[in-house]
Amino acid sequence: MKILLDTANAAYIKKINDLFPIDGVTTNPSILAKNGKPFMEVLQEIRSIIGPDRTLHAQVISQTAEEILVEADYLISKLGANTFIKIPVIPEGYKAMRLLHEKGVKVTATAVFTAQQALMAARAGANYVAPYVNRIDNISGDGVQVVADIAHIFESFGFATEVLAASFKNVDQVQKCCLVKAHAVTVSEDVFDSLTKHPLTDWSVNKFVEDWEAVYGKGTKVS
Ligand code: E4P
Repeated sequence: MKILLDTANAAYIKKINDLFPIDGVTTNPSILAKNGKPFMEVLQEIRSIIGPDRTLHAQVISQTAEEILVEADYLISKLGANTFIKIPVIPEGYKAMRLLHEKGVKVTATAVFTAQQALMAARAGANYVAPYVNRIDNISGDGVQVVADIAHIFESFGFATEVLAASFKNVDQVQKCCLVKAHAVTVSEDVFDSLTKHPLTDWSVNKFVEDWEAVYGKGTKVS
């Protein structure tokens, strides 16, 4: 089960990468635009923070296969081979996935809302598919069920393609995707912070210190 950060905030990625075993970073055009800085500078900074071995998923903006291939070449030339080219599941996108797969380029199919889109992306050679859990929930769908269906289909038919569940607004959605065997999740800053914190953990740690210092004195360490 892989955990990625869904952000282009380099300072945050640096902090979390130092503390937690994360597997990589995903971005999309909206995330980069929100950041406001030159997009390639930001992507290269993220690559230098996470190093060459962890995955960076960077998205194309073009909507024809021919232009998507040009953007993919550019992204790989700037960010290294371990860069997954995020391509939306539009008709020309599937064609681009197939052509990139044939060239040995790694692909993440994105903006996935149905299991059938995911199946087609897997057949086109995508390494990951990214179903948008919260956006599905927001149209009265069931995002976790879509993730479960995709994972089930991939397992049933022996696809190597992995499910990278995306678009989360809360920890419950993430936990449920883990339970239905998503291979990976990518989470925003606020969701990541909520994943690892609990008020009772903080309370317990404060109590340990309070009890310890009452007997051994303030500032005494285990040494
Ligand atoms: C990641 O790959 C997706 O682009 C992202 O999770 C979408 O998230 P959003 O629905 O919060 O914009």
